[in-house]
Amino acid sequence: MKPITLAVTLLVIGVVSVCHGESTSEQLSEAIASAFKVYEDRLNNVEAYFANLARQVMLQQFNSEQRVRTDGYSGVKAIRGSHHGPANYYSKSHVGTRFMAIHDHADFIRTMGMGEINVVINGVDFSTRHNDYKLVMSSTSSTEYHATEPIPFPEVPPSVTELDDIDAQTEEMRTYFKAFATQNTTLRDYRPYFKANLCYMEAAWTLDKSIEEPFESDRHQLDAASWLELQSLIRYGAYTGTKSPDENFAHLPTTIMHVNKTTGEPAFAQWNYRILCSPIEQDIPLKYLKQVEDLQHDFPRNRVGADNKNLRSARFVLYDHEDPKYERVGLLDYIFYNISGKDNRATGLTQQSYGYPLYLPYGETKELQDTSRYARATELGGEDAMGNKFLARGFNDPNLWCAETTQPRVAPIITEKCATERVGKRKVETCESFETRFSWAIPLEIVYMTPLFSWNPYKIPYSDSRTTATEKGKLNGATEGKAYNGTDLAHYYITPVQFYKGTFDSNDNADTAKGGVWVRDATDTPRKCSAAGPRIITPNIEGVGNVRLRYPIAPVHGEGSAVWKELNAFKDLYHSQSVAKEEKSKLVHFRMATTFKNPPGEHYHEFTLSVFDFKKIRDEGQSRMVTTSLNQGHTHDLLVVYRRGRFEYKSCSGVSKCSDGHLRDLTPDPEDVANI
Ligand SMILES: *[C@@H]1O[C@H](CO)[C@@H](O)[C@H](O)[C@H]1NC(C)=O
Ligand SMILES: *[C@@H]1O[C@H](CO)[C@@H](O)[C@H](O)[C@H]1NC(C)=O
Ligand SMILES: *[C@@H]1O[C@H](CO)[C@@H](O)[C@H](O)[C@H]1NC(C)=O
Ligand SMILES: *[C@@H]1O[C@H](CO)[C@@H](O)[C@H](O)[C@H]1NC(C)=O
Repeated sequence: MKPITLAVTLLVIGVVSVCHGESTSEQLSEAIASAFKVYEDRLNNVEAYFANLARQVMLQQFNSEQRVRTDGYSGVKAIRGSHHGPANYYSKSHVGTRFMAIHDHADFIRTMGMGEINVVINGVDFSTRHNDYKLVMSSTSSTEYHATEPIPFPEVPPSVTELDDIDAQTEEMRTYFKAFATQNTTLRDYRPYFKANLCYMEAAWTLDKSIEEPFESDRHQLDAASWLELQSLIRYGAYTGTKSPDENFAHLPTTIMHVNKTTGEPAFAQWNYRILCSPIEQDIPLKYLKQVEDLQHDFPRNRVGADNKNLRSARFVLYDHEDPKYERVGLLDYIFYNISGKDNRATGLTQQSYGYPLYLPYGETKELQDTSRYARATELGGEDAMGNKFLARGFNDPNLWCAETTQPRVAPIITEKCATERVGKRKVETCESFETRFSWAIPLEIVYMTPLFSWNPYKIPYSDSRTTATEKGKLNGATEGKAYNGTDLAHYYITPVQFYKGTFDSNDNADTAKGGVWVRDATDTPRKCSAAGPRIITPNIEGVGNVRLRYPIAPVHGEGSAVWKELNAFKDLYHSQSVAKEEKSKLVHFRMATTFKNPPGEHYHEFTLSVFDFKKIRDEGQSRMVTTSLNQGHTHDLLVVYRRGRFEYKSCSGVSKCSDGHLRDLTPDPEDVANI
């Protein structure tokens, strides 16, 4: 009810009373009171309707999240499309020519190229801006919201720095890369200098009213003044099918987190995400990073079965076992438990979930779980309805990493537990409210940092700016005369160009580094250098080849659906069957031992087994019946077995020993079995 209407109504009551000449002040105030009562009742009703409506909107949002949550895992869903073709797999999904739109900005000191992606985290479906995140980690000294610090660069091995000659240093550095690429710690113990990091995406509902840059990028930032403006710009893009050329808009939804039971007031929250990294203390051997096949990428490009590991489309899973097996906790659990949520460091929070404490789901002793660190599994203080103590967080989402936080800028999830008590004849309701704050994360990449970040044999000066090297755009490094004035954060060229083989230039147009530029060192001598920032795959290193340094391990949203699980099982079945098919068509030639018995006279026989049968006999203890070639007018039917490390016959034409005296040994052709 508008106040103006109320005022007019009161005035009318007053005027009518006065005109009738029967007004007393008593009557007037009675009239006013009853008029107010009418409006008060209506206002109460409106408030109640409004509260119910707000609650319904909140539940509606929850329903749509719940739908997404149960359709798939937390993970990457799609990247921006461009091409298409006669079948749907010609257009992109989570993968196109690149998985997750990753690319290089190796000329930037710490920038990890990553384009716009569409992601689901804990049921919230959102789109990022062009990410280009930085190699930074949560602050180790400050608990301030979103405070970060640079991840220290690995040191240069002393066996490199102690050499005076640049060529000798280059050679030694290559040897380290060779040791890393071949994982040969005997050649050089590369492990202290090639450090793995887990880069992850973290998201939460926040209370930020004004637009908050989710994380630092040297190349991109949200291009809007407020959340509302951002939402209207992204809607414009969605309805008109266009984009901002700078790729600086993100779709970050809002929600109603809570409706106050007493006042009906809704509490709004804003979704936001960020990307950061965390150093992993232990060495992560490359063999733990197992490539996942995306046929939708490989098939239309005729690359099925090819070595696709060094393509930008390649994605991996981190799995530290030789043979696949079921597990509840694995290496990623230990890595994530060393990463804290929005409190920046482990603070020893312990969550009481529905009244039960939560424990670490592994370890010798029963230990309370520090819920300020990321975990996807926990152990319940009590048993669940099925008698289980182990709990995978989320209903069915192996990628839901959760961390509790005390940051007041994260929206609390408030819930009330009420009990009614009888006091005399009246029922009295007492409510207790619980509130907690959470953020969620998914892994994005394992990133190896190398000594190239700090190997600076020419001692080229560095300036923490963007314009010093170019002297505000005057220099471009193309010639000795235009050599950069040292390096800066956006022109980070310190690697001697001869470290790489030949000249190179990237053919990915999202990349920015040039093949080799002139840079002035501290004595103003121009030096030809290559970019030393992060790279997915290095250019060809003389004597080593290309070395992959970024291993994307982000989960894919759709892989959480039952259809995709069946599809992956089917792919693996198909592969094992096509291997079997190939093995069935390849033959191993065998020879029996020569017999000199006369009659029938000196002779031997031959027969063949398929590679498939060969393996069944040798590896699985099976036997096969074969018929040998004809010689001296006869053949033998042999039951072939494998015993004491060799092939032999168990029976020969129905009797235990061939009647013409062949010894038991059956000899396969060494050439045929060379690779089996
Ligand atoms: C590892 O390097 C050592 C020393 O150069 C070499 O002898 C050895 O053969 C290498 N191992 C492998 C598996 O290549
Ligand atoms: C609901 O509103 C009342 C009155 O403003 C306030 O005292 C109370 O703390 C609020 N409850 C919650 C859970 O925000
Ligand atoms: C986690 O941190 C502890 C303590 O610093 C360390 O001992 C452990 O190796 C780390 N775990 C991983 C997987 O890096
Ligand atoms: C060249 O770089 C140095 C720092 O390395 C800086 O002090 C100087 O101002 C730069 N020169 C110009 C002309 O920008």
